[in-house]
Amino acid sequence: MANQLFARKSIDKLSADAFSEGAHNLKRTLGPINLVALGVGAIIGTGIFVLTGSAAAQYTGPAIVLAFILAGLGCAFAGLCYAEFASMIPIAGSAYTYGYATLGEFVAWIIGWDLILEYLFGAATVAVGWSGYVVSFLRDLNVNIPPEWSNASGVELIQLPGTSSWVRVTEQLSSSLAADGIDIATLPHAIGIFNVVAAVAIALVTILLVRGMSESARFNNIAVIIKVGVVILFILAGANYLFGHPAEAAENWTPFLPENKGGFGEYGWSGVIRAAGVIFFAYIGFDAVSTTAQEAKNPQKDMPIGILGSLIICTILYILVSGILTAMVHYSQLNVAEPIAVGIEKTGYTFLRDLIKIGAIAGLSSVMLVMLMSQPRIFYTMANDGLLPPIFGRLHPKFRTPHVSTILTGSICAVVAGAFSVDELGHLVSIGTLLAFVIVCAGVWYLRVKEPNRPRPFKTPLVPLVPILGILVCVGMMAGLPAETWYRLLGWMAIGILIYFLYGKKHSVIRKENNL
Ligand code: ALA
Repeated sequence: MANQLFARKSIDKLSADAFSEGAHNLKRTLGPINLVALGVGAIIGTGIFVLTGSAAAQYTGPAIVLAFILAGLGCAFAGLCYAEFASMIPIAGSAYTYGYATLGEFVAWIIGWDLILEYLFGAATVAVGWSGYVVSFLRDLNVNIPPEWSNASGVELIQLPGTSSWVRVTEQLSSSLAADGIDIATLPHAIGIFNVVAAVAIALVTILLVRGMSESARFNNIAVIIKVGVVILFILAGANYLFGHPAEAAENWTPFLPENKGGFGEYGWSGVIRAAGVIFFAYIGFDAVSTTAQEAKNPQKDMPIGILGSLIICTILYILVSGILTAMVHYSQLNVAEPIAVGIEKTGYTFLRDLIKIGAIAGLSSVMLVMLMSQPRIFYTMANDGLLPPIFGRLHPKFRTPHVSTILTGSICAVVAGAFSVDELGHLVSIGTLLAFVIVCAGVWYLRVKEPNRPRPFKTPLVPLVPILGILVCVGMMAGLPAETWYRLLGWMAIGILIYFLYGKKHSVIRKENNL
């Protein structure tokens, strides 16, 4: 029984497969710069453009900066572990494949199932962020999308006096308005029904993917340049504003770490831990670099550069953006769909506001593309291993894309994107990805003990210290997430385990090959 569950793929065979027939179709064109650009392309998205605002408003205030440092640290440890695996097993499939090679089939299935939270639900989260910026941009053009149809069902919104944007209602906002003598009941109200805009975004990306257009590295490079350009513009314009208004900055940053309000996560240090778990979402994507291992010119050397380089660039940008944003706008007013645009409005540079929105829309589109491209490819690998039905492994005769799993992924993703709020989704994606990171860290440590002499082009430094720290920080961030998020994760995993025993275990190719 144990053997059946823990059957492993041989690393030698995996490496050989990487250079076999099928793999010859993938051209090795990506150098270190492309890989860093790919990482940055997958990383910068809803996390920084949307969640920063809601996390600062609800959990930390200006101390959101500390949450970014903590989450960045956890990612650095996990990134070092990913880099060892990606250089040692340079083939597509990411954490699922590493799990198969080290901890066996059952753990691989668990990771594969868990990665659905990262990629499918991740794309849905980004789509919700995208909808916020699109609605806001259209509003500037006097096209008003009703808030009921651009928000998840049940989300309560109000329109602040003197503005045209709709803000999610929180206790913090109510009390801050009450302090200004405004009764929230007197403001225009709306309740979300279904976020059609987010669902449409997913539908459009899915159509592109089925046609195979997404595979244009040029699109990604352009999106990365626009995205990073916009983030740097925000930093420069924001810093310039703050130098001219030091008193306002000091006031907004006081207190830097608002006092805890009684419950876990309601400001104070527990708020920082909770926010780190939430904005951890902003760092997700560096692992997507590892899914392109078969297209890298020199994966052994360049995978670690791509993973760690993109992580370092994004960490620096995130710390600067979150610090500047909370100094420009009081955190209680940041629980909006487009906080970075709200921040830039303060500077008075109206043209920048529109530029930022266009940049965010383009940037978020590329994140959706990468995520919705990765998910069907992981399904495809799992179907080839017999853990999912063969239909997931079918290729389109003309476009050579895994069209069935792409359409299925896109359809489910569109419904999820329309039905849930960015916070609910973001929490689930964060906890799911953190779990994958914990398993990858454990896998590196395990393989060092089990196969100490296997060649490792990139070695994670200080093993087992770095994997242990990675596990501790990631589990710490998971622990900071709300109880409902844990229940959802456990429910999701229970469904996955059931599917494995009902289907995967019976159809596993590797167990058939080994007569297990
Ligand atoms: N890190 C990506 C984002 O923030 C997933 O959108």
